[in-house]
This record gives sequence, structure tokens and C-alpha cells, in this order.
Amino acid sequence: MSNNLLKGKKGIIFGALNANSIAWKVAELCHAEGAQIVLTNAPVAAKIGQTEALAKTLNAPLIYADVTKMEDLENLVAGATEALGGSLDFVLHSVGMSLNIRKKNPYSDSNYEYMHQTLDISAMSFHRLMQTLMKKDAMNEWGSIVALSYIAAQRTFPDYGEMADAKSLLESFARSFGYHYGKKKHVRVNTISQSPTPTTAGSGVGGFDAFFNYADKMSPLGNASAAACAEYCVSLFSDYTRMVTMQNLFHDGGFSFTGISNDLMDGFRNAAAE
Ligand SMILES: NC(=O)c1ccc[n+]([C@@H]2O[C@H](COP(=O)([O-])OP(=O)(O)OC[C@H]3O[C@@H](n4cnc5c(N)ncnc54)[C@H](O)[C@@H]3O)[C@@H](O)[C@H]2O)c1
Repeated sequence: MSNNLLKGKKGIIFGALNANSIAWKVAELCHAEGAQIVLTNAPVAAKIGQTEALAKTLNAPLIYADVTKMEDLENLVAGATEALGGSLDFVLHSVGMSLNIRKKNPYSDSNYEYMHQTLDISAMSFHRLMQTLMKKDAMNEWGSIVALSYIAAQRTFPDYGEMADAKSLLESFARSFGYHYGKKKHVRVNTISQSPTPTTAGSGVGGFDAFFNYADKMSPLGNASAAACAEYCVSLFSDYTRMVTMQNLFHDGGFSFTGISNDLMDGFRNAAAE
């Protein structure tokens, strides 16, 4: 069902690797809600992902860009505004990768080359993207920029490793850059802190399945799915959220404000009774 919430709007969506990706669901819903979009992903996604198939289905131009390369982002923004025939109303940053997690290095024995790359890909890319958009004056007045985060930015989840630090930085960039973009062009900048979601990046974190189930039992509404996250993104791209900026918005079924749930307590009671 479409409400045409994004009718006439133009945007760029980063990070749709395969049908499990959060960005994939966002792209599909933006399209259904009447937006014109450009898809982008890392060049390596051409080999390991299905972004091209999505681009065909949605009839969306696909421009590859490595978010660690300024030149790639400049080409992307120039190419997207040209392909869409005008400036942008929204951008989704849905990019994350941890080299130390991938190499299974414990947090307290991190490799700093890897950590540097992790922060570069997962957080500094957000600043780099916004700086590029601003320098090229590529956003329309009252545009909306969203990046995806995780609650490990506020609380410790041991297996999330250096991605916790990357997410803290990402959320800080939303506040800091959000101020400047708001003053300059009424562009709003927010992060969405999403529930654990079974995707390529999510499943790469150690013990993901146990953690997914724990969060599901802890949250009064259960875990938020990728499809539900897409709906929240669309609301933030729409004109109904024009005064929301510089926020980290929890989209997690209530997880972030729950101390303990009856479901989890029951598990502990049963274990104590055995
Ligand atoms: N899955 C979860 O549990 C979860 C929870 C909260 C937040 N998030 C965040 O959601 C976002 C999207 O991740 P996802 O879960 O959909 O996984 P995903 O693996 O489908 O998406 C991650 C994307 O990042 C892209 N990417 C990696 N390096 C890149 C580079 N150098 N240049 C350009 N793109 C690059 C990948 O190609 C991929 O498309 C990430 O920021 C992630 O941290 C995920």
C-alpha cells in the first residue's frame, strides 16, 4: 500500500547488498512511496552482492562508490543529481564494516590499521558524505539525511567490538553536522538506532543468533524488522518530520528503555528452580 509520502522526492540510498539488507527494504519502500532514487554501494558489491538486480527492478540508476574515497563520493553526488534531474531531498547512509570483527580480533587486542579502516568506513564516511553534499549544494531545503546506528554506542555489548566506537562517532557526526546543515539549509540529520537484524553485516557479529533472541525477548514489541525500519526511514524522509534533527532515534521495539522483561525473568526463574 502506498501513501505517496515521497511523491516527487529524489534521494540516494547507500548499502543495499542483498534482499536482507536494511537499505534494500528502504529502497523498495521509497520507490513504492513515489520517490526517484539512485542506488550506490562499494565497487566490490558488484561481485558479492545483488545491488544491480534491485536497480533493474526499481529502474534506479546505480553508481558505485567506495565511501572511504572523496573522489568517489563527489562523482556519486554529481552523477545522482544529474541522473535525477535536480537536487536531493533525502539520503540514507546504511554502511558498516569492522575489520577487527571480521578478523576475529578480540576488542582488547585490536589491530589499529583495521580499527582506522573501520572508523573510516563506518563513521567518517558519514561526515565525508555530508561535506560533499554541502559543498556541491546538492540537498534541497528541508532535506533529510539518515544513518543507521546501534545501541552499542551508548551501552556495552562486548562482541560488538570497535563498531560500538564507530557508532558513537556516527551519532556524534549527526549532531555536529546536523547543526551546521540545519543553519545553512534547514537540512535535518538523524541516526536510527535499529534492533539486531539478520543481514550480512549483522550476522558477522559474534553470537548474533543468541543476541537476536535475547533482544527479541527483552523488547515489549519484539525486535524491529528491516521492513519496519524502512517505514521509519520513509517517515523521516517525508514532510511530516521536518522539525526532527540531530537526534539518535531508537527503533527497537522498546529495548532501549526496558530494564528486564518478564520473558527473560521467567528463563532465570526456571534455571534457578532446576
Ligand atoms: N544488522 C543489524 O543488526 C544492524 C543493527 C543496527 C544497525 N545496523 C546498521 O545498518 C547498516 C546497514 O547494515 P545491514 O545490517 O543492512 O547489513 P548489510 O551488510 O546488508 O549492509 C552493509 C553495507 O555496507 C556496504 N559497505 C561496506 N563497506 C563499504 C564501502 N567501503 N563503501 C560503500 N559501501 C560499503 C556493504 O556493501 C553493504 O551493502 C549498517 O550501518 C549497520 O551497522 C545494522
